[in-house]
Amino acid sequence: MRMEKARGLGLLVQLLFMLAECSLHNGGISDTSQELSHAARVLLQVRGRQVVMSNGLVTVTISNPAGMVTGIQYNGISNVLETANKEDNRGYWDFYWGRLRTNNTFDKQSSLAFKLLGRKMNVIVQNDNQVEISFVTSWNGAGFPLNVDRRYIMLQGSSGFYSYAICEHSEQMPEVNIYQARIVFKLQENKFDYMAISDKRQRVMPTPTDRRNAQPLDYPEAVLFTRPGNPSLKGEVDDKYQYSCDNKDNQVHGWISNNPIVGFWMITPSNEFRTGGPLKQDLTSHVGPTVLSMFVSTHYAGENMGMKFRNGEQWRKVFGPVFVYLNSASNNQKSSLWHDAKSQMAKETASWPYNFPQSPDFLHANQRGSVSGRLLVHDGGRNLMSAASASVGLAPPGNAGSWQYENKGYQFWTQADAKGNFVIKGIRPGSYNLFAWVPKIIGDYQYGPPIIVTSGSNIRLGNLVYEPPRTGPTVWEIGIADRVAAEFFVPDPNPALENHLYDRFDKFRQYGLWNRYAELYPREDLIYTVGVSNYSRDWFFAHVTRHDGNGNYTATTWKILFDVKAVNRAGNYTLRVALASANDAELQVRINDQSGPPNFSTGLIGKDNAIARHGIHGLYRLYSIAIPGFQIYEGRNTIFLTQSRGSGPFKGLMYDYIRLETTWMDRID
Ligand SMILES: *[C@@H]1O[C@H](CO)[C@@H](O)[C@H](O)[C@H]1NC(C)=O
Ligand SMILES: *[C@@H]1O[C@H](CO)[C@@H](O)[C@H](O)[C@H]1NC(C)=O
Ligand SMILES: *[C@@H]1O[C@H](CO)[C@@H](O)[C@H](O)[C@H]1NC(C)=O
Ligand SMILES: *[C@@H]1O[C@H](CO)[C@@H](O)[C@H](O)[C@H]1NC(C)=O
Ligand SMILES: *[C@@H]1O[C@H](CO)[C@@H](O)[C@H](O)[C@H]1NC(C)=O
Repeated sequence: MRMEKARGLGLLVQLLFMLAECSLHNGGISDTSQELSHAARVLLQVRGRQVVMSNGLVTVTISNPAGMVTGIQYNGISNVLETANKEDNRGYWDFYWGRLRTNNTFDKQSSLAFKLLGRKMNVIVQNDNQVEISFVTSWNGAGFPLNVDRRYIMLQGSSGFYSYAICEHSEQMPEVNIYQARIVFKLQENKFDYMAISDKRQRVMPTPTDRRNAQPLDYPEAVLFTRPGNPSLKGEVDDKYQYSCDNKDNQVHGWISNNPIVGFWMITPSNEFRTGGPLKQDLTSHVGPTVLSMFVSTHYAGENMGMKFRNGEQWRKVFGPVFVYLNSASNNQKSSLWHDAKSQMAKETASWPYNFPQSPDFLHANQRGSVSGRLLVHDGGRNLMSAASASVGLAPPGNAGSWQYENKGYQFWTQADAKGNFVIKGIRPGSYNLFAWVPKIIGDYQYGPPIIVTSGSNIRLGNLVYEPPRTGPTVWEIGIADRVAAEFFVPDPNPALENHLYDRFDKFRQYGLWNRYAELYPREDLIYTVGVSNYSRDWFFAHVTRHDGNGNYTATTWKILFDVKAVNRAGNYTLRVALASANDAELQVRINDQSGPPNFSTGLIGKDNAIARHGIHGLYRLYSIAIPGFQIYEGRNTIFLTQSRGSGPFKGLMYDYIRLETTWMDRID
């Protein structure tokens, strides 16, 4: 009853705003270019259970004091959000959290979803150029143990709005695990049917009804369409994880409505507030039509990526702002909308850190510092090389590579130029370590001393040298040291289980590739002969279990065969094994003797689930295994790689790169 009343009021408010817009702005906005000089001033109306922000381009209705986005009016569409959904299921922030049990455990499986529900609305700023409003959710001694101040901002002449949140765990709050934090928008089902994530990853999408009528596959997220509304989708597979993206590439994605042709885009202008660094993967947009910006998640990393607050830990962090951008094009071309969304993304990125958010917790450019330097690589031998295109970043202090597990602080990354020069700007004051990894070079660089960034500081580190692990020249190598398994053999999917978007690129995003292994290697496991085999054809991209056809998945052992002419008996050999992913797996390595205990084992590792989630990588790991020279034979040698944990299709590994090194004394000059 109350809901009905609120809806009625919402319509009235919308009507009033439509009238206001007509008088302010003669003629609709039909082009993607907006001229600021003509822009209408920003209006804010607070009417009982509704707050409405409008700037003549976009009108956003937010429930008061809950703070849910219930309506977005744009370009003749009275609400781009799904009006068939309840008001709390259209545009919201939510958190998944695990409560501390009496037996001192947290269980991710039974984590609770909490949609942020404001208790009080505050107007932070209201003038012709900007409106910023705040919805506060405070811990009240029970329930979700964080205080969250959620903000919405509308600027003059800006075709969209911003949202960010200041989150706090204070000393008095109970211990908690937080597995997910995100902002979600659900668009009108019968309008938005085309999704775009990158230049190539764009397609006409199925509907939620299609999914409900579809055949479930090995897990609930993956379905096969048997009778979709759009017959051309028949026989295709859908899974939201097929639309995941590395953080570094996850800057703009969204949907286009068919009538009128209107785009709805999620623009994430910075990675600084995301967890796990630039290579952490996450969801983007998917069937719904749903649009997400993920701030915290365990996807492609595992439960350890959840934020864990213990012993009255004091914590404060700003997530966002992210920008919800709407556009239309006079030529009605979807491609124009996508290109415009990308150029808007470039503008947002260029103006980061924003100068307009009002929370003192969001630091503006003059409150931040910068760090610059040049990274070189000394990979054995005498020569120093430039760390061309290295990824260089600051993250909270930790060991080399710890940034990929880091989940409570801020990270600031950049890419070095061809000479290894880097400049990281806009760093929030604090204590960090500088980390890096370099294309085609193994391992993780860490600059030893902590780096203390202060407001306005400009720290010049000069020349830094990364000495990657190496004991001698390469005897042989398999793959490219680039933290992904993309260079290896990725099979075609079962033709009955395809997503046609990935017929010609990103084949690893297809469903069910784990079952192709036993089809390709029906009798004997993979054997790779150095000097004869070609890793792009002969090295399966994932070391998976073998499906026996009866529902059993068994462990597999791959072999690397190689010949050595003159063995360096007095010296040592080193096997470097870089993994791109591990899930419930154990890698055992045996040298020239398949029976008996392994010479090396990783033990049980990994929960990144990249095999099931169609990632070409999860988390990076590097192992170095010493082999005394007397263990290597003159002539043919075999290295046995066993992934020893069977029993399920998703237990396995992905290799990034494997190399056998000898010692320098073995070098023939
Ligand atoms: C803790 O209690 C929950 C039920 O509240 C139970 O499911 C779980 O198995 C228990 N964990 C341990 C380690 O005893
Ligand atoms: C390995 O195979 C790929 C794909 O078939 C091919 O492009 C490449 O040239 C091969 N490399 C060598 C060294 O033969
Ligand atoms: C599955 O594997 C287990 C252990 O290897 C074996 O005991 C069992 O008989 C197998 N089941 C089938 C149906 O093959
Ligand atoms: C080989 O490894 C052993 C054990 O780590 C070490 O004692 C020895 O010095 C190494 N030999 C060479 C030549 O590096
Ligand atoms: C590797 O294992 C074999 C067989 O157990 C053993 O003979 C050999 O000494 C081991 N080598 C190393 C380096 O541990």
